[in-house]
Amino acid sequence: MKQELDVIILGGGAAGLMCAIEAGKRGRRVAVLERAGRIGKKILISGGGRCNFTNLYCRPEKFISENPHFVKSALAAYTPQDFIALVEKHGIPYHEKTLGQLFCDGSAVEIVGMLETECRQVGVRILTSVAVDKVDRRDRDDAHRFKVSAGPTEFVAPSLVVATGGLSIPKMGATALGYDLARQFGLKVVATRPALVPLVLDAGACENYCQLTGVSADVIVSAGRQSFREKMLFTHRGLSGPAILQISSYWQPPHPIAIDLAPGYDLTAALRDGSGRDLPALKAAFRIVLPQRLADRWLDLNPPQGWTNQALADLERHAHSWEIAPETTEGYAKAEVTAGGVDTAELSSQTMECRKVPGQYFIGEVVDVTGHLGGFNFQWAWASGYCAGQVV
Ligand code: FDA
Repeated sequence: MKQELDVIILGGGAAGLMCAIEAGKRGRRVAVLERAGRIGKKILISGGGRCNFTNLYCRPEKFISENPHFVKSALAAYTPQDFIALVEKHGIPYHEKTLGQLFCDGSAVEIVGMLETECRQVGVRILTSVAVDKVDRRDRDDAHRFKVSAGPTEFVAPSLVVATGGLSIPKMGATALGYDLARQFGLKVVATRPALVPLVLDAGACENYCQLTGVSADVIVSAGRQSFREKMLFTHRGLSGPAILQISSYWQPPHPIAIDLAPGYDLTAALRDGSGRDLPALKAAFRIVLPQRLADRWLDLNPPQGWTNQALADLERHAHSWEIAPETTEGYAKAEVTAGGVDTAELSSQTMECRKVPGQYFIGEVVDVTGHLGGFNFQWAWASGYCAGQVV
């Protein structure tokens, strides 16, 4: 069976659906082919089920890519305000949680429902449980330039949009199809790695610190020149929490990360000023700022080398730049996103079209663009999908 279309979109996630809506508005015959049994599965689990759908402070610096300028054009073409307008048009209540992060008051189901309604209104066909076997490309001026085979059905169209996302959470149906297609068509793919992911400590460090599982603290975590001030959480295998997820995207193994356990505080000031100089007094001073279990454990493992002012100053420095070398990350199974992907040098930053393969587009997470935590990854998906949707 052969189905003739104007646009075939592989992947019914955030980017693919946005692209479908925009192309549908232009009167294009669009089909979204989704491997899973339903669309938008990652949207549904995002933001703890409330979907952190954008961030008010979306700037190019919030994205990691081999070409940091690539995102500028798409982010300017489709802004957080544009997506907010769509959310408001559908009467979905939302709130700012912190740091410009916008969440649904109710549930992420409303965002998927909104995208589905928009698709329906412009005649987009959404096909779920479609297993793509093969993609072929023909001559440049063939109106059926791209042929997608899925079981007994053949979809043909002059435009093919790859929106198959990254490798994170394979249990939810992530596949490498997007990267494989890029390689099939001779495009460069920047090496992929798990990002926004908890870090795992080696056995020794875990023996020391993993008994603090569940303890969290407001810290500054740094790797190279990048740092984040947010909460850090000890886990049974290592470190997590927003500060650690953020730095994981920048961490280069085997280098250590540096942790300021008490940003802006002078932990040892009272002792240096002459009050009792012993371990109980020191622990009491640390407990003013840090959770008790963390203060006690950290000082048991990192005691001062004496009680002189110099020794206390050294300890102070250590607490503000505590270096710890993670062994690895929790991998794609626990990563929110995949860093790396289709090299942006292969794509137009205005349309996401491949320079070498006219008619083929890559959008969303499959591209070498990774946002910080906080709604930036969805904003990239909406913006890149929007840009391709104007021209496919
Ligand atoms: P996405 O992964 O959404 O969609 C790709 C689609 O392609 C999927 O539906 C998949 O099933 C389909 N597909 C894959 N292979 C296929 C194949 N071979 N054939 C057909 N279809 C195929 N971001 C954010 O900004 N705010 C947040 O709150 C969160 N929260 C969050 C929580 C968790 C647990 C995770 C794992 C991730 C987040 N994210 C996030 C990240 C965000 O979900 C992610 O960046 C976007 O969903 C990316 O959108 P895409 O459309 O590119 O891929």
